[in-house]
Amino acid sequence: MAQTINTAVTRTDARRKVTGAATYAADVMPAGMLHGALHCSAIAVGRVVSLDTRRAAAEPGVVAIYTHETLPDYQSVKGFYSGGPGSASFWPMEGTEIRYSGQPLAYVVAETAAAARRASDLIEVEYAEEPAIIHMDPEESFVIGATDDSPGMVTTKGDLQAGLDAAAKTVAMEFVTPFQHHNPMEMFSATAEWRGDRLTVWMPSQSVRTLRGGIAKAYGLPETSVRVISPFVGGAFGSKAGITPYAMLTIAAAKAVGAPVRLLVTRPQMYTVATFRPEAVQKFRLGADAEGRLTAFEHIEISQTSRFDNVVNPGTHITRAMYACPNIHTEQRLSPSDTNTGGFMRAPNEMQTFFGLESAMDVLAHDLGIDPVEMRRVNDTKTHPVEGVPFSSRSLMESYDAVSESFGWADRNTEIGSMTDGDWLVGYGCATATYPTNILASNARVRMQASGNAYVELAAHDVGTGTYTIMAQIAAARLGLPVKAVDVVMGEADLPVAPISGGSTTAASAGSAVHDACLRIGRQVAATVAAQSEGPLAGLDPASITLDDGVLRGPNGESQSLQEALAATPEGEVEMVGEFRHPALTDKLIRATFAGGYGTAGPVTPEFAMFAFGAEMVEVRIHRFTHEIRVPRLHGAFAAGTWLNRKTAHSQLMGGMIWGIGSALHEVTETDKPRARFLNANIAEYLVPVNADIREIRVEMLEEQDDYVNPLGVKGIGEIGIVGTAAAIANAIHHATGKRLTRLPLKMADLL
Ligand code: MOS
Repeated sequence: MAQTINTAVTRTDARRKVTGAATYAADVMPAGMLHGALHCSAIAVGRVVSLDTRRAAAEPGVVAIYTHETLPDYQSVKGFYSGGPGSASFWPMEGTEIRYSGQPLAYVVAETAAAARRASDLIEVEYAEEPAIIHMDPEESFVIGATDDSPGMVTTKGDLQAGLDAAAKTVAMEFVTPFQHHNPMEMFSATAEWRGDRLTVWMPSQSVRTLRGGIAKAYGLPETSVRVISPFVGGAFGSKAGITPYAMLTIAAAKAVGAPVRLLVTRPQMYTVATFRPEAVQKFRLGADAEGRLTAFEHIEISQTSRFDNVVNPGTHITRAMYACPNIHTEQRLSPSDTNTGGFMRAPNEMQTFFGLESAMDVLAHDLGIDPVEMRRVNDTKTHPVEGVPFSSRSLMESYDAVSESFGWADRNTEIGSMTDGDWLVGYGCATATYPTNILASNARVRMQASGNAYVELAAHDVGTGTYTIMAQIAAARLGLPVKAVDVVMGEADLPVAPISGGSTTAASAGSAVHDACLRIGRQVAATVAAQSEGPLAGLDPASITLDDGVLRGPNGESQSLQEALAATPEGEVEMVGEFRHPALTDKLIRATFAGGYGTAGPVTPEFAMFAFGAEMVEVRIHRFTHEIRVPRLHGAFAAGTWLNRKTAHSQLMGGMIWGIGSALHEVTETDKPRARFLNANIAEYLVPVNADIREIRVEMLEEQDDYVNPLGVKGIGEIGIVGTAAAIANAIHHATGKRLTRLPLKMADLL
């Protein structure tokens, strides 16, 4: 690999970001732009009896107020869980029906954002309220059928009961994880401008092609008439993936008033007009022999869903891939409540399920008197326990060994409550982290000039993770250019197809298309110079010439830099479109991605199972009298194939681990269950870690080679960092106190 890969490269957009020059979607102000505001439902279930907008309309600056009766040409799209691009399948303001608290009921357009919000507060709604509830009812939960592309919702291997009967020790436990809501720094927004039947939408997005395709179809427009622009995204993590009602309302309002309209969703409204992490219950029954080898593995996950969508972000197909076991049963169940439809939130089910799995493994290890790390070692496997295929690479125990050394695991006194420091009880805990390697088709266009510049263009996204930088690094490495000579353009639907930035896929899938475009540039230039009468490569068989990090090489040591060879071509410039088509991608999956959908292959293919692995270790301190929980040290070691950028990768892993501390100790959307409301619906009352909560975080990045996942050998790291943290902290709390906490967030009150 060339020097620009696997090094620490500072973000190419760092200066633009810190100086405010990076333009986010809501920074644009088309001429004549008006401002939108939503009026949202105060009840959860029922209907609108009447909507009085007279006082609101009299407010100075108000241009229009739209309701279910008055908004012309408002279109909806099919929900994601019904196979469409929408965030949910129920569309508010199509009628009087109310199905969740905070559902949009009216849309105000005004000359200023302040006037629009003031007016929205003056709208008076008469409701017919019906009973509503948020509950998690395991008895009434149900399993939905698996679709062709989804992992099995019920999976059985061997004989679970026989495995439990044969066990030296068993555990049967339930773990609860709460609703969590997205609070990205960049708020949700949509800005729409119509010019005749041409529409431009600026919106922070994880999938500009999903947006463009869905919007074009909804309005019966050719995709060439719709532009979707999202050059920078200030945090997404799953919240900016689908087409939301507030976006379609803004598009409709802009059309109706005949002027561009921008809607900035308020912080409280962000809790109800978009997706979230649903509440979930994990039921585990595990059995192991006296040496710790699993004899039985049962995992039943019950996730909350809305009344109108069967949201399944399966977690059981990940947990059952972790450890060798002859007898396995998993089930994916749903329990509906009166909320909007949930969705993806960083490691959309690995976070919840691994809190359960890795806590239960710790219980079993403790009951058997086995070191928790050794418990994972005896159950490690190079073959997928259910599917029977080998892992393409699996560095779980290498991760444990690396983090054990960095953390000092050997210093742990195994006895509960034995480690103290003054009034603080000290505990050590560990947990496994993993994330599936999802594979999607991608294209990318690369243009190189003999002057030594290159341009990379693709409809991928930088959701704040450094995608601009790694795409430039990949092209720079292949073409033999400095990173700063590569200009990357992304975040527009008109660019070559790239997949949704979700499921930790962009670096691997879109990056592999950039890599391929560069190799094609090499072949194209080689063919031209090989056909010339003079030059170092003249007369060679072009097929014998390879591009080796910016140098074209012939079979007998002939060589010429790509840049020099390009200068010898008549054009002095070459442009190629590269492709990434993994053998596991069926035509159907490729077509789905090109249609703006989520055409993902993996993590299990007919040949291999593809996962990144890691291990986390944590030291907690519990105050003997106040029971205050502190996390002075959190170490993680991860192996995820090739590291493209050691600086941005480190930041993503560290960020995931910090979010893991938040998930473990702070983050929860409190609910008023009998009235189906989210209570602390404001970033001011929704706790996230602050600097004082985060002490030593250490990240070890292991070297791992995987030639199967993609030509770059990249597995994706956006989500793995959060996965093991909560269980590691809960396990450490048990070590310090002997108390086993099974509900997130872990609270002082539970230690009283
Ligand atoms: Mo991520 S939760 O896959 O957008």
